[in-house]
Amino acid sequence: MQHDIRPDALFNNEDSNTSANPHFEQVLGARLNRRNILRGAMGAAGLGLAGGSAVAAGHGAQASHKAGGALSALGFKPVAKSVADQVSIAEGYQYQIIYALGDPLDANTPAFRNDGSDADFERRAGDHHDGMEWFGLSANGRPSEQYNARGLLAVNHEATTDEKLTSFFLHADGGKASLPRRADEVEKELAIHGLSVVEIEAKNSKWAYQPASRFNRRVTAMTEVELHGPLRGSEHAITRYSPDGTLARGTLNNCGTGKTPWGSFVSGEENWNGYFFRDAKDDERRGKDDRQVAGLNRYGRKAGAASRHGWESAGEIDRYQRWNNGALGKSARDDYRNEMNTFGYVVEMDPYEPELKVRKRSALGRFAHESVSFAKPVAGQPVVVYMGDDARNEYLYKFVSATKWDPKDARPANRLATGDKYLNRGKLYAARFGADGSGEWLELSLDNPALAQYKGFAFKNEADIAVFTRIAADAAGATKMDRPEWGGVNPRNGELYITLTNNSTRTPERTDAANPRSYTDLKNGKEQKGNVNGHILRLAEAKPTDSAFKWDIYLFGAEAAADSSNINLSNLTDASDMSSPDGLVFSPSTGICWIQTDDGAYTDKSNCMLLAAIPGQVGDGGKKTVTHQLTDGSRRQVETFVGKAPTEATLKRFLVGPKDCEITGWCETPDGRAMFINIQHPGETTKMADVGNPAKYTSQWPANAGYGAGKRPRSATIVITKKDGGVIGS
Ligand code: FEO
Ligand code: CA
Ligand code: CA
Ligand code: CA
Repeated sequence: MQHDIRPDALFNNEDSNTSANPHFEQVLGARLNRRNILRGAMGAAGLGLAGGSAVAAGHGAQASHKAGGALSALGFKPVAKSVADQVSIAEGYQYQIIYALGDPLDANTPAFRNDGSDADFERRAGDHHDGMEWFGLSANGRPSEQYNARGLLAVNHEATTDEKLTSFFLHADGGKASLPRRADEVEKELAIHGLSVVEIEAKNSKWAYQPASRFNRRVTAMTEVELHGPLRGSEHAITRYSPDGTLARGTLNNCGTGKTPWGSFVSGEENWNGYFFRDAKDDERRGKDDRQVAGLNRYGRKAGAASRHGWESAGEIDRYQRWNNGALGKSARDDYRNEMNTFGYVVEMDPYEPELKVRKRSALGRFAHESVSFAKPVAGQPVVVYMGDDARNEYLYKFVSATKWDPKDARPANRLATGDKYLNRGKLYAARFGADGSGEWLELSLDNPALAQYKGFAFKNEADIAVFTRIAADAAGATKMDRPEWGGVNPRNGELYITLTNNSTRTPERTDAANPRSYTDLKNGKEQKGNVNGHILRLAEAKPTDSAFKWDIYLFGAEAAADSSNINLSNLTDASDMSSPDGLVFSPSTGICWIQTDDGAYTDKSNCMLLAAIPGQVGDGGKKTVTHQLTDGSRRQVETFVGKAPTEATLKRFLVGPKDCEITGWCETPDGRAMFINIQHPGETTKMADVGNPAKYTSQWPANAGYGAGKRPRSATIVITKKDGGVIGS
């Protein structure tokens, strides 16, 4: 399945960084430099089997992984596109499946039968593994930033494969697909959402998760969490469960992740709004003066909205009634009219401290959060966080902390208390993109007259901005984007990369410089419209606290054969063509930008994939003009800024997943020799009616790769290593 390309044209294992950028060494990630110093000090023993992550015996080949850490060219052959129901990986690499939906997280929970009869998901891996971060342990189980053979994975469990209300693979017969839902089915569905922490270890060349680890943990849609930041104690957080507005239950639709500069885990709540029911009379009952109505409408819960799973219908008890978002009682203390206001945040968890509650960081705003990207912290400067809101035509955000960074907080005694210090107070900004390649961060505070005087919503305080962040960004005049997904900060130069996955509602008339494409594409003869294949934008700021930035588009997703003047603007080839970039993470050890797809447009030609990139910098390409044919027959031209086109040394496909999956979640061991990714929702388009007929599943992965019982497809974490034990990507 490999492309027939001369290896000498692909391998560039030279130990040289050709960049002349004078800022390179100054801004290269501190972790990367620290680690290389350690590697030097530890010598061969430190890289030996005791501390090494490599599952192969050898540790020799790391030719292009220079002492400075950053790779200058990708050292593997590209993987061909594939629609096979398997993981296809670059030659010279191997993978193991280590942690799948339903795997027990303690010694007393029975093995997963995978036939719909399993219960106790509070003590099993959740569904739809998504964003994921590595938290190292030493050989004797203490937090460690250097050891490579033992660690914790903190994993998001975003959602579940469903049809007509039910998560059909979890129920023996697919479940009851009408209201009211059955309580036993709803209990499973509540429990497979949220987060997990799982210990993993490499022994005798094999990685395995540790079912009896004391660190193993689940946070579900029912786990008690603390509200922090402006939301805490505000009118918006008052519920029957928490009359003082300080507590809530659960985290939902956790998509992207991040790791704080103080060593904790952060995770973004994404598509939570669809989980709430609101009856058709709710606006009327609430009355014209209730500001919540404008908020509910702007966040996609108009009166009469049905919920995704119908959980509110499972019974009169509180744990089901909380999903009914109507004003049904005498006041907010008597019902769950405000329950939806307790979702939509970045949540912070300390994976090393299973007893500590998750904290919702409302100062970072409420929207369909994806990943959480920290700028490299600078002593005496605010901590800066970049975030996207993944819905069509939503915005890009930045948070600037009120508290200035103290480098002593990099290894604090109490990580969540340190989170309180930096993430509970600060200012939010939303991005406006100029047609000339400039941009501006617009302040979302009452100091901004556009908000203070906004006719669409009466903003009174910080809590209003924290909860109704989208409305604040509307008021400020932010630019509507093509679904901002994950972001990543390039350790070479501090530039922010953000994936804009696609946008079916971007019309040619409404294209702009930063979202310049709208076209029609065919998939199996069916028309797809808008920005079908997505793009990756990047921003450069002189300092992360600046309000001005420059931007360009690093890469346009496209089919290699698509029109190169209007669609395939980055000249993607058979080795690099892809659609709907979603996950994006820069490796701390090599600087490789790993790009993951969550695609529904090019899937007739290839399942979703993982690509490796070594990008340049904002402004390294040039201007391009995209020409649109409008419906009235006229032409419209939009100028945009496109990064230098990649070559096969700087962008290629590394892995293709099984059928109907999304590739997501990315982390690695500190030495860059073991990489973990998630295969989310293989077999997602299977019909619920076929749940009893494995031959009709669109995927049987990971069972068909030898993992676990049953044939129902399962989301799972895999670990990737190089067969020669080398650094991944080198
Ligand atoms: Fe969970 Fe927008 O992806
Ligand atoms: Ca995503
Ligand atoms: Ca996506
Ligand atoms: Ca997904």
